[in-house]
Amino acid sequence: MIDDTGTNTAPAQTGRYRDVWRRSIDEREDFWLDAARAVDWVRPPSAALTQRSPTDYRWFADGALNTSYNALDRHVLAGRGNHTALIYDSAMTGSRVRLSYSDLLERVARFAGVLRAAGVGRGDRVIVYLPMIPEAVVAMLACARLGAVHSVVFGGFSASELAVRIDDARPAVLVTASGGLEPGKTVEYLPLVQKALELSAGSVHTVIVRDRPAIPGSAADYAGPAAAAGVRWLDWAHAEDGAVPAGPVTVAGDDPLYILYTSGTTGNPKGIIRDNGGHAVALTWSMRNIYDIGPDDVFWAASDVGWVVGHSYIVYAPLLAGATTVLYEGKPIGTPDAGAFWRVVQDYRVTVLFTAPTAIRAIRRVDPELAELARYDVTSLTALFLAGERLDPETFHWANDGLHCPVVDHWWQTETGWAICANPRGIQELPTKPGSTAVPVPGYDIAILDAEGQPVTKPGKDGNIAIRLPLPPGGLLGIWGGEDRFASAYLSAFPGYYATGDSGHLDADGYLYVMGRTDDVINVAGHRLSTGSLEEVLTRHPAIAECAVLGVHDPVKGQRAAGFVTLKAGAVVDHDLLMAELVNLVREHIGPVAAFRDVTILDRLPKTRSGKILRKTIRQIVDGEPYKVPPTIEDPAVLDALTRAVHPRAPAHLPD
Ligand code: COA
Ligand code: AMP
Repeated sequence: MIDDTGTNTAPAQTGRYRDVWRRSIDEREDFWLDAARAVDWVRPPSAALTQRSPTDYRWFADGALNTSYNALDRHVLAGRGNHTALIYDSAMTGSRVRLSYSDLLERVARFAGVLRAAGVGRGDRVIVYLPMIPEAVVAMLACARLGAVHSVVFGGFSASELAVRIDDARPAVLVTASGGLEPGKTVEYLPLVQKALELSAGSVHTVIVRDRPAIPGSAADYAGPAAAAGVRWLDWAHAEDGAVPAGPVTVAGDDPLYILYTSGTTGNPKGIIRDNGGHAVALTWSMRNIYDIGPDDVFWAASDVGWVVGHSYIVYAPLLAGATTVLYEGKPIGTPDAGAFWRVVQDYRVTVLFTAPTAIRAIRRVDPELAELARYDVTSLTALFLAGERLDPETFHWANDGLHCPVVDHWWQTETGWAICANPRGIQELPTKPGSTAVPVPGYDIAILDAEGQPVTKPGKDGNIAIRLPLPPGGLLGIWGGEDRFASAYLSAFPGYYATGDSGHLDADGYLYVMGRTDDVINVAGHRLSTGSLEEVLTRHPAIAECAVLGVHDPVKGQRAAGFVTLKAGAVVDHDLLMAELVNLVREHIGPVAAFRDVTILDRLPKTRSGKILRKTIRQIVDGEPYKVPPTIEDPAVLDALTRAVHPRAPAHLPD
C-alpha cells in the first residue's frame, strides 16, 4: 500500500515483517535501543537518535564502545575463543588458513601495537591498500581497536586514485603488501604506492608492507635512500615481532570507524564516513533479521574488502555476530573453473553466499547447465543473496532453479552500509518477485518522488527513490572533509529525504523495483564508477576535443563504460593507436577495474541546439533500443553517423 504521501505504509503482507517494520518507524527510539542491547557498550547509550541540526542525525552518540572488542574480545571472553572466526581460501595460491577468534584477536592486538608504535591513535587515518589476504581484516580491526579510522583502497585502482584518497584522508600510515594476484598475472603494489606517495601532498610518514612470497618487492627495496622524503618503510612481520599488543580504546558511538571512497557525479570520489555505534548495532541486527545467520553459521561474501560489501559482510557483520566469515581470493570462473564457488561452499559448509549478479552471470556463461555444481555438495546453503547491481529476472530464474535454495536480491549502497530493501528472511520469508529487491528493511522509510519532490502515489510509476530522514543506524555520518558536501549531494534535492540517486517504483504490495541511476554513476561488474571521472581522463589526451562516456549494456558485467570522442580540428592521428592510448590512459589514471576498452571516434557528438550531449539517445543507439529523435537536436544526421559507427551492419534508423 502506498499512502498519499507516497510512503510505503504497509507492505501488503500481513504478519511479523509488517509489524516489525511499523515498529521500527513508529517507535524508532525503543526499536533501536532494543537492538543496541546485542552490542557490548563501555557506556550504554541513553538515547538512540540525537538530532543536531535539521540534517545532522547521530545514532547512539552518548554511548561508548569499541568495535574490535565487539567483533573479537567479547566472543573470546564468552568462551568461544576456539570457534573459527575467519577462513582464508586462496584459489590463486592454494593456501587455506583457519583463524579462531583467539588467533584473530591475538593478531589484531599485535598489529594494533605496531600501528600505535607508528604513532597512530584515536581519530588518525590509516590507508589500507591490501589484496584479499587475512592481513586486510587484521589491519582494519587493528585500526578499529585503536579508535583510528581506516580507509581501504581497492587493489584495482591506479596510483593516481590512491593519491587522491591519500590527499583527502591525510593518513599518517599506509598499510600495504607486495601485491595482489589476478588470473595469469601479479599486480605489484609497491611501485603504485611509491608513485602515489610522489603524487600526493605528503601526509604519510610510515608504510608497512606485508611480503607475499609469490610477488616481488619488500619494504627493504624502498627504505633507505630510495624512500620518498621522510617516509619510513617497515616490514610487517618484523614490526609485529617486537610489538606490544594493544587493548581496545573506548570511542564515542558517533566517532568515525572508517572512510570508504565511492564514485559520485564529479571526478572527486566521496569519502563516506561510517560511525562505530550505529554501524555495530545495524550490522549485528542485520545478520539475524535479514540473513538469518547466527554464531554457528558460515557466512561468505564473495566480494572484496575494498568495497562496502567487503567491509560490512566479509569483515564486520559476521564477526560482530560471532559467526565464521570466509575470505576468498579468487574469481567465480577461471580459478580454476566455474565450480570455484561451489567448491568453497562445500569445503566450509557455507550457510549463506552473498555476491554480485555479475559473478552469477559469469558462471552461467561458462557453465549454462550448471554441470560443475553437480560435483559438489552445496546442501549447506540456505540462501544466495545478491546485490551491487540490478538482478535481471533471467539470471534470477537460472540461479533459483539451479541452486534449489532461495535467491534474494537486495539493494543497498556504500552510503547506507547495509540493505535498504530485502526479503528479511530472519523475520519472515516473503514471496519473491523476480526483478524486485523486495520490501523496505525495518528502519528504512522509502518514498518514490517525482522531479519536483512530490510523492508518486501510483503503484508501478517510476520516480526518484528517496529515504525519509533519518536514515537508520549504520547510514553515512557525512562526507569526509565536507559537511556541506553531504547536504548538497544527498539532502538538498528533496528536503526531508535522502536522495539515493536510484530510480524505480513500488508495486501495489510495497515491493521496490530499482531500475537505474538518475546521475552519471555507472555500475561495471558491481563496481561503481563515475562517467564524469572517465571523461576527465579522456580529455587529457591532446588530440581529444570532446567526449562522452556512458554505461551501455554488457551481458556479463551488467554495464560497461563506452567512450565517444571527437578530435581537435587538424589533429592527425592513427585511430587504432589513439584508441589504445585512451584505454591506457584510463588504466593509468583510474585503474584496470574500470575495464575500459570501448572507444568510438566520431566527427561530432549528438547534441541539442543548446549544446547538451544527448546521452540517453547515444545509449539507446548503442544498446540497439528504439529511440525518438529529440526535437531539440542540433543535427539529426549525427545520429545516423553514430549508428553506422556502432552497428556497421544495421539499418540507419531503428524503428521508433
Ligand atoms: N587488483 C588488481 N586488479 C584487479 C583487481 C584487483 N583486486 N580486480 C580486478 N582487477 C583487474 C582485472 O585483472 C582486470 O584487468 P585486465 O583488464 O588487465 O584483465 C580488470 O581489473 C577488470 O576486472 P574485472 O572487472 O574483475 O573483470 P574480469 O573480466 O577480470 O572478471 C568477473 C569478470 C565477472 C569474473 C569479475 O568482475 C567478478 O568476479 N566480479 C564479481 C563482482 C564483485 O565482487 N563485486 C563487488 C561488489 S558486491
Ligand atoms: P555501491 O555503492 O558500489 O554499493 O553501489 C550502489 C549502487 O548499486 C546503488 O545505488 C544501485 O544503483 C546499485 N545497486 C546495488 N544493489 C542493487 C540491486 N539489488 N538492484 C539494483 N541496483 C543495485
